[in-house]
Amino acid sequence: MLSIKNLHASIGDKEILKGINLEVKAGEIHAIMGPNGAGKSTLASIIAGNENYEVTEGEISLEGEDLAELAPDERAHKGVFLSFQYPVEIPGVSVTNFMRTAINETRKANGQDEMPANEMLKLIREKSELLEIDRKFLSRSLNEGFSGGEKKRNEIFQMAMLEPKIAILDETDSGLDIDALRIVANGVNKLKSDKNAIVVITHYQRLLDYIVPDFVHVLFNGKIVKSGGKELAHELEEKGYDWIKQEQEA
Ligand SMILES: Nc1ncnc2c1ncn2[C@@H]1O[C@H](COP(=O)(O)OP(=O)(O)O)[C@@H](O)[C@H]1O
Ligand SMILES: [Mg+2]
Repeated sequence: MLSIKNLHASIGDKEILKGINLEVKAGEIHAIMGPNGAGKSTLASIIAGNENYEVTEGEISLEGEDLAELAPDERAHKGVFLSFQYPVEIPGVSVTNFMRTAINETRKANGQDEMPANEMLKLIREKSELLEIDRKFLSRSLNEGFSGGEKKRNEIFQMAMLEPKIAILDETDSGLDIDALRIVANGVNKLKSDKNAIVVITHYQRLLDYIVPDFVHVLFNGKIVKSGGKELAHELEEKGYDWIKQEQEA
Protein backbone atom coordinates (compact mmCIF):
# COMPACT_ATOMS: atom_id res chain seq x y z
CA MET A 1 0.00 0.00 0.00
CA LEU A 2 2.36 2.73 1.27
CA SER A 3 6.06 2.24 0.82
CA ILE A 4 8.69 4.66 2.08
CA LYS A 5 12.31 4.04 1.22
CA ASN A 6 15.33 5.87 2.62
CA LEU A 7 13.41 9.13 2.93
CA HIS A 8 15.49 12.19 3.70
CA ALA A 9 13.89 15.60 3.97
CA SER A 10 14.98 19.08 4.91
CA ILE A 11 13.68 22.53 5.50
CA GLY A 12 16.23 25.16 4.56
CA ASP A 13 19.56 23.60 5.45
CA LYS A 14 18.14 21.69 8.39
CA GLU A 15 17.76 17.96 7.80
CA ILE A 16 14.68 16.69 9.63
CA LEU A 17 14.14 13.18 8.26
CA LYS A 18 17.30 11.14 8.00
CA GLY A 19 16.49 7.94 6.18
CA ILE A 20 13.00 6.65 6.96
CA ASN A 21 11.94 3.19 5.81
CA LEU A 22 8.33 2.13 6.30
CA GLU A 23 6.13 -0.47 4.64
CA VAL A 24 2.42 -0.31 5.37
CA LYS A 25 0.22 -3.03 3.91
CA ALA A 26 -3.53 -3.02 3.35
CA GLY A 27 -5.47 -3.97 6.46
CA GLU A 28 -2.77 -2.81 8.84
CA ILE A 29 -2.74 -0.17 11.56
CA HIS A 30 0.66 1.32 12.30
CA ALA A 31 1.44 3.62 15.19
CA ILE A 32 4.32 6.04 15.03
CA MET A 33 5.48 7.28 18.39
CA GLY A 34 8.36 9.42 19.45
CA PRO A 35 9.38 12.41 21.53
CA ASN A 36 8.50 15.98 20.57
CA GLY A 37 10.60 17.26 17.71
CA ALA A 38 11.44 13.77 16.40
CA GLY A 39 9.94 14.50 12.98
CA LYS A 40 6.56 12.74 13.24
CA SER A 41 4.43 15.61 11.93
CA THR A 42 7.01 16.36 9.27
CA LEU A 43 6.76 12.79 8.02
CA ALA A 44 2.97 13.05 7.87
CA SER A 45 3.12 16.36 5.99
CA ILE A 46 5.61 15.01 3.48
CA ILE A 47 3.52 11.94 2.73
CA ALA A 48 0.59 14.28 2.07
CA GLY A 49 2.76 16.38 -0.24
CA ASN A 50 3.49 19.50 1.81
CA GLU A 51 5.77 21.55 -0.41
CA ASN A 52 7.49 23.46 2.40
CA TYR A 53 9.79 20.49 2.89
CA GLU A 54 12.35 19.34 0.39
CA VAL A 55 12.75 15.63 -0.15
CA THR A 56 16.47 15.28 -0.76
CA GLU A 57 16.67 11.50 -1.08
CA GLY A 58 14.49 8.41 -1.16
CA GLU A 59 10.95 7.75 -2.32
CA ILE A 60 7.34 7.41 -1.28
CA SER A 61 4.96 5.27 -3.28
CA LEU A 62 1.30 4.34 -3.00
CA GLU A 63 0.33 0.99 -4.50
CA GLY A 64 3.55 1.09 -6.50
CA GLU A 65 3.01 4.59 -7.85
CA ASP A 66 5.72 7.13 -7.03
CA LEU A 67 4.13 10.16 -5.35
CA ALA A 68 7.10 12.52 -5.80
CA GLU A 69 5.67 14.62 -8.59
CA LEU A 70 2.13 14.80 -7.23
CA ALA A 71 0.70 17.89 -5.55
CA PRO A 72 -1.19 17.51 -2.24
CA ASP A 73 -4.63 17.56 -3.89
CA GLU A 74 -3.55 14.94 -6.44
CA ARG A 75 -2.34 12.71 -3.62
CA ALA A 76 -5.64 13.20 -1.82
CA HIS A 77 -7.51 12.19 -4.97
CA LYS A 78 -5.43 9.03 -5.13
CA GLY A 79 -6.45 8.11 -1.61
CA VAL A 80 -4.01 9.76 0.78
CA PHE A 81 -5.79 11.31 3.74
CA LEU A 82 -4.13 13.44 6.38
CA SER A 83 -6.09 14.62 9.38
CA PHE A 84 -6.08 18.37 9.83
CA GLN A 85 -5.95 18.94 6.13
CA TYR A 86 -8.98 21.23 6.32
CA PRO A 87 -8.57 23.06 9.61
CA VAL A 88 -10.05 26.32 8.34
CA GLU A 89 -13.30 27.74 9.60
CA ILE A 90 -15.78 28.24 6.82
CA PRO A 91 -18.81 30.16 8.05
CA GLY A 92 -21.91 29.33 6.07
CA VAL A 93 -20.55 26.04 4.71
CA SER A 94 -21.86 23.07 6.59
CA VAL A 95 -19.94 19.94 7.45
CA THR A 96 -22.12 18.06 4.94
CA ASN A 97 -21.83 20.54 2.10
CA PHE A 98 -18.12 20.66 2.50
CA MET A 99 -17.96 16.88 2.16
CA ARG A 100 -20.22 16.92 -0.89
CA THR A 101 -17.79 19.27 -2.61
CA ALA A 102 -14.72 17.30 -1.54
CA ILE A 103 -16.20 14.03 -2.77
CA ASN A 104 -17.23 15.46 -6.10
CA GLU A 105 -13.83 17.02 -6.61
CA THR A 106 -12.21 13.66 -6.08
CA ARG A 107 -14.64 12.00 -8.45
CA LYS A 108 -13.98 14.64 -11.07
CA ALA A 109 -10.22 14.23 -10.72
CA ASN A 110 -10.70 10.49 -11.26
CA GLY A 111 -12.85 11.01 -14.36
CA GLN A 112 -16.18 10.19 -12.68
CA ASP A 113 -19.43 12.14 -12.76
CA GLU A 114 -20.77 13.91 -9.67
CA MET A 115 -22.35 11.60 -7.14
CA PRO A 116 -26.13 11.66 -7.61
CA ALA A 117 -27.88 13.49 -4.75
CA ASN A 118 -29.76 10.43 -3.48
CA GLU A 119 -26.59 8.37 -3.41
CA MET A 120 -24.82 11.16 -1.54
CA LEU A 121 -27.61 11.31 1.03
CA LYS A 122 -27.47 7.59 1.52
CA LEU A 123 -23.71 7.70 2.01
CA ILE A 124 -23.98 10.54 4.52
CA ARG A 125 -26.70 8.68 6.41
CA GLU A 126 -24.70 5.44 6.44
CA LYS A 127 -21.47 6.99 7.62
CA SER A 128 -23.01 9.25 10.21
CA GLU A 129 -24.95 6.33 11.67
CA LEU A 130 -21.84 4.18 11.75
CA LEU A 131 -19.96 6.88 13.65
CA GLU A 132 -22.96 7.97 15.72
CA ILE A 133 -22.81 11.53 14.47
CA ASP A 134 -26.05 13.42 14.85
CA ARG A 135 -27.79 15.50 12.21
CA LYS A 136 -27.36 18.75 14.05
CA PHE A 137 -23.63 18.36 13.86
CA LEU A 138 -23.75 17.75 10.11
CA SER A 139 -25.50 21.06 9.48
CA ARG A 140 -23.08 23.16 11.51
CA SER A 141 -20.61 25.52 9.85
CA LEU A 142 -17.29 23.86 9.23
CA ASN A 143 -14.93 24.15 12.19
CA GLU A 144 -16.72 27.24 13.47
CA GLY A 145 -16.47 27.14 17.24
CA PHE A 146 -15.72 23.43 17.19
CA SER A 147 -14.49 21.93 20.43
CA GLY A 148 -11.54 19.53 20.39
CA GLY A 149 -13.92 16.58 20.30
CA GLU A 150 -16.00 18.10 17.50
CA LYS A 151 -12.90 18.72 15.41
CA LYS A 152 -12.05 15.06 15.81
CA ARG A 153 -15.59 14.05 14.93
CA ASN A 154 -15.40 16.13 11.77
CA GLU A 155 -12.05 14.65 10.87
CA ILE A 156 -13.25 11.09 11.32
CA PHE A 157 -16.40 11.87 9.35
CA GLN A 158 -14.24 13.19 6.49
CA MET A 159 -12.19 10.03 6.61
CA ALA A 160 -15.32 7.88 6.55
CA MET A 161 -16.79 9.76 3.59
CA LEU A 162 -13.62 9.93 1.50
CA GLU A 163 -12.70 6.28 2.11
CA PRO A 164 -8.97 6.85 1.69
CA LYS A 165 -6.54 4.04 0.95
CA ILE A 166 -4.12 5.37 3.50
CA ALA A 167 -5.22 7.57 6.38
CA ILE A 168 -2.65 9.36 8.50
CA LEU A 169 -3.92 10.72 11.77
CA ASP A 170 -1.50 13.07 13.45
CA GLU A 171 -2.67 13.29 17.04
CA THR A 172 -0.40 16.17 17.94
CA ASP A 173 -2.61 17.68 20.54
CA SER A 174 -1.50 16.74 24.01
CA GLY A 175 -4.63 18.44 25.28
CA LEU A 176 -6.96 15.88 23.73
CA ASP A 177 -9.43 14.81 26.33
CA ILE A 178 -10.64 11.28 26.77
CA ASP A 179 -13.81 11.91 24.73
CA ALA A 180 -11.79 13.15 21.77
CA LEU A 181 -9.49 10.15 22.05
CA ARG A 182 -12.48 7.83 22.08
CA ILE A 183 -13.96 9.49 18.99
CA VAL A 184 -10.74 8.97 17.08
CA ALA A 185 -10.24 5.43 18.33
CA ASN A 186 -13.83 4.41 17.70
CA GLY A 187 -13.64 5.87 14.18
CA VAL A 188 -10.39 4.12 13.37
CA ASN A 189 -11.67 0.80 14.66
CA LYS A 190 -14.89 1.09 12.64
CA LEU A 191 -13.29 2.33 9.44
CA LYS A 192 -10.44 -0.14 9.40
CA SER A 193 -10.82 -2.68 6.59
CA ASP A 194 -8.72 -5.02 4.50
CA LYS A 195 -8.71 -2.41 1.73
CA ASN A 196 -7.21 0.49 3.65
CA ALA A 197 -4.38 1.16 6.02
CA ILE A 198 -4.13 3.60 8.90
CA VAL A 199 -1.11 5.31 10.38
CA VAL A 200 -1.69 6.87 13.79
CA ILE A 201 0.93 9.29 15.01
CA THR A 202 0.97 9.96 18.69
CA HIS A 203 3.26 11.13 21.40
CA TYR A 204 1.37 9.29 24.10
CA GLN A 205 0.62 5.66 24.62
CA ARG A 206 -2.87 6.51 25.89
CA LEU A 207 -4.52 6.53 22.46
CA LEU A 208 -3.22 3.02 21.92
CA ASP A 209 -5.32 1.79 24.83
CA TYR A 210 -8.25 2.19 22.44
CA ILE A 211 -6.68 1.48 19.07
CA VAL A 212 -4.72 -1.72 18.84
CA PRO A 213 -1.95 -1.24 16.29
CA ASP A 214 -0.43 -4.12 14.37
CA PHE A 215 2.94 -2.38 14.42
CA VAL A 216 4.53 0.32 16.53
CA HIS A 217 7.49 2.36 15.33
CA VAL A 218 9.58 4.76 17.34
CA LEU A 219 10.78 7.82 15.50
CA PHE A 220 13.75 9.50 17.07
CA ASN A 221 15.86 12.28 15.61
CA GLY A 222 14.53 11.76 12.09
CA LYS A 223 14.90 7.98 12.01
CA ILE A 224 12.83 4.95 12.92
CA VAL A 225 15.03 3.45 15.60
CA LYS A 226 12.74 0.68 16.82
CA SER A 227 9.79 -1.27 15.47
CA GLY A 228 7.68 -3.89 17.16
CA GLY A 229 4.20 -5.02 18.00
CA LYS A 230 1.74 -3.35 20.34
CA GLU A 231 3.83 -4.34 23.34
CA LEU A 232 6.43 -1.78 22.27
CA ALA A 233 3.97 0.99 23.09
CA HIS A 234 3.63 -0.36 26.63
CA GLU A 235 7.37 -0.67 26.99
CA LEU A 236 7.70 2.97 25.97
CA GLU A 237 5.05 4.01 28.43
CA GLU A 238 6.96 2.25 31.16
CA LYS A 239 10.49 3.26 30.30
CA GLY A 240 9.89 6.64 28.67
CA TYR A 241 11.70 8.13 25.73
CA ASP A 242 14.91 8.49 27.74
CA TRP A 243 15.33 4.77 27.27
CA ILE A 244 15.48 5.26 23.49
CA LYS A 245 17.76 8.25 23.86
CA GLN A 246 20.21 6.35 26.03
CA GLU A 247 20.22 3.43 23.63
CA GLN A 248 20.90 5.73 20.71
CA GLU A 249 23.71 7.48 22.51
CA ALA A 250 25.32 4.27 23.73
N1 LIG B 1 8.32 24.42 8.99
C1 LIG B 1 9.38 24.20 9.76
N2 LIG B 1 10.37 25.13 9.87
C2 LIG B 1 11.45 24.92 10.65
N3 LIG B 1 11.64 23.83 11.37
C3 LIG B 1 10.70 22.88 11.33
C4 LIG B 1 9.53 23.00 10.51
N4 LIG B 1 8.78 21.90 10.67
C5 LIG B 1 9.44 21.12 11.53
N5 LIG B 1 10.60 21.69 11.92
C6 LIG B 1 11.57 21.14 12.87
O1 LIG B 1 11.74 19.77 12.60
C7 LIG B 1 11.81 19.01 13.80
C8 LIG B 1 10.69 17.96 13.79
O2 LIG B 1 9.45 18.61 13.98
P1 LIG B 1 8.06 17.82 13.96
O3 LIG B 1 7.99 17.02 12.71
O4 LIG B 1 6.97 18.79 14.19
O5 LIG B 1 8.24 16.85 15.21
P2 LIG B 1 7.14 16.01 16.02
O6 LIG B 1 5.86 16.03 15.28
O7 LIG B 1 7.75 14.65 16.14
O8 LIG B 1 7.04 16.66 17.36
C9 LIG B 1 11.74 20.00 14.93
O9 LIG B 1 13.04 20.30 15.35
C10 LIG B 1 11.06 21.20 14.31
O10 LIG B 1 11.45 22.38 14.95
MG1 LIG C 1 4.00 16.60 15.79
